[in-house]
Amino acid sequence: MSAEIKIRRRTSRDIRLMKGQIPIVMLTAYTAPMAQLLDPHVDLLLVGDSLGMVLYGMETTLGVTLEMMIAHGQAVMRGSQKACVIIDMPFGSYQESPQVAFRAASRVMQQTGAGGVKLEGGVEMAETVHFLAERGIPVMGHVGLKPQSVNSLGGFRAQGRTSDEADRVMRDAKAIAAAGAFSLVIEGTVEPVARKVSDAVAIPTIGIGASPACDGQVLVAEDMLGMGGDRVPKFVKRYADLAGVIDAAAGDFAAEVRARSFPAADQTYPLPASPVPTVRTGR
Ligand code: KIV
Repeated sequence: MSAEIKIRRRTSRDIRLMKGQIPIVMLTAYTAPMAQLLDPHVDLLLVGDSLGMVLYGMETTLGVTLEMMIAHGQAVMRGSQKACVIIDMPFGSYQESPQVAFRAASRVMQQTGAGGVKLEGGVEMAETVHFLAERGIPVMGHVGLKPQSVNSLGGFRAQGRTSDEADRVMRDAKAIAAAGAFSLVIEGTVEPVARKVSDAVAIPTIGIGASPACDGQVLVAEDMLGMGGDRVPKFVKRYADLAGVIDAAAGDFAAEVRARSFPAADQTYPLPASPVPTVRTGR
């Protein structure tokens, strides 16, 4: 009898219930192998539209399409077993109306099997969040610095420094929580505002550049692994230097190819041993 143990994947409900219990751990993942490596350590894997910048070298996230998010979402689902996988709704796929958002989000859910979607926005997106949540699509909100609004924000800069900005972040967070989101990313927001928001809403807040006051933390995996290039934001802590490891390995490979020391015998298929001739014996 096979003793296969089926691991239960975390759900958006599990995440919501973690508020006030233990800090929530989320990392981005865009591919199956990265999802497999991160899955044992996290509560949530986010297929963020940051993949446009991190994987595809785009300047902003605005060029990311629904098809890209679905393809990477499928890969992350294949690579993970226990994390709740959340997929970002890309720019242009949900802002027009709740109905348009539902059509796009239901495609994401059907074609990936993910646990929910994330969308950026505050008061102006509350009706859409409500529409999706009421129709069975778990939604993670995203307030504070919203990278899809980089053109109207005037660049990637921390939010909440003026009282107008602080009020807006609070209003946005309350509107998204009241609309039925199961959790909320707060990005690039000064500590006192992130703290007040986390105290004010009943759903867990997950911070990125938003201080330890949040109920959980998220980072872009490539940034914290030291693969984010030179343009990593102030709030990133590097836990490894994979760029250095890759640079050294690629350099060793190149040197060995040029010296003709790779491939060696261990990496080479020899000819099959010649068959032993059969000897007939007479009676
Ligand atoms: O796209 C992304 O990776 C994100 C995180 C930065 C929260 O939205």
